[in-house]
Amino acid sequence: MPVISFANAKGGAGKTTAALLLATELAGQGHRVAIIDCDPQQWITQWAEISGPLHNLEVISQVSVASLQCHLREMRDQVDFFVIDLAGARDALVTTAIGLSDHVMIPVQGSAMDAKGAAQILDLLAMMKEKANLAIPHSVVLTRVTSMVTTKALLAIKGLLAARGVNVLNTPIGERIAFKELFETGGTLRTLDAARVSNLDKARENAAAFAQEVVRLMPARVVRSGKSRLVASGRLAA
Ligand SMILES: Nc1ncnc2c1ncn2[C@@H]1O[C@H](COP(=O)(O)OP(=O)(O)OP(=O)(O)O)[C@@H](O)[C@H]1O
Ligand SMILES: [Mg+2]
Repeated sequence: MPVISFANAKGGAGKTTAALLLATELAGQGHRVAIIDCDPQQWITQWAEISGPLHNLEVISQVSVASLQCHLREMRDQVDFFVIDLAGARDALVTTAIGLSDHVMIPVQGSAMDAKGAAQILDLLAMMKEKANLAIPHSVVLTRVTSMVTTKALLAIKGLLAARGVNVLNTPIGERIAFKELFETGGTLRTLDAARVSNLDKARENAAAFAQEVVRLMPARVVRSGKSRLVASGRLAA
């Protein structure tokens, strides 16, 4: 059961939104998902409270450095994916969560390029590799991308990160009202009302493509999907 964490030392990069999109998409596909809410603002915990019980999805709140490992250990047999939402910081909980992750997703705003916050996480990953011989696969996901952000600009960002050996997801997360709306109304993109939320179909397509790309990054393993067991194969990116 892969542990996927969302980290960027800068606040507001889109970690919580991306974590919720991934978790709800995976749960909607039939995977059992636990979101570990390590964001001190507890947005996902609040989202869960207004959403009510959701099939295949559990949210763990009030997590500490000491309790994180216990949650992962105790729930590993009941969960297909752990999704960890982290604070916009580089503190002990962020470092511990990254050390326990199978893949670290680093959301970077396509328009603002949170270079410093992302670089702090990349430096931390490099230090873990150097000092502890712990190579944790990681990828940047561009977020809040609008039509104002040109393909040329995105390619330039990808080029810069690729030069540092950083994998960048092909699917950027767009700036979408629907993604904000989830936190207002609760529920998932599947339960939002298309008559009330503009471009909901585009938002759903975007979240599905993002989740699909993340799943492909996971090492090959046996995952439970609905009632059947299937082998999900994927490639490992660093
Ligand atoms: N793809 C998106 N489309 C529309 N709004 C977004 C998107 N991603 C993030 N936002 C908005 O940007 C703000 C910050 O996003 P979010 O809370 O996901 O960032 P964060 O990195 O988790 O922040 P923090 O470091 O404070 O925890 C929120 O108001 C959120 O609704
Ligand atoms: Mg957050």
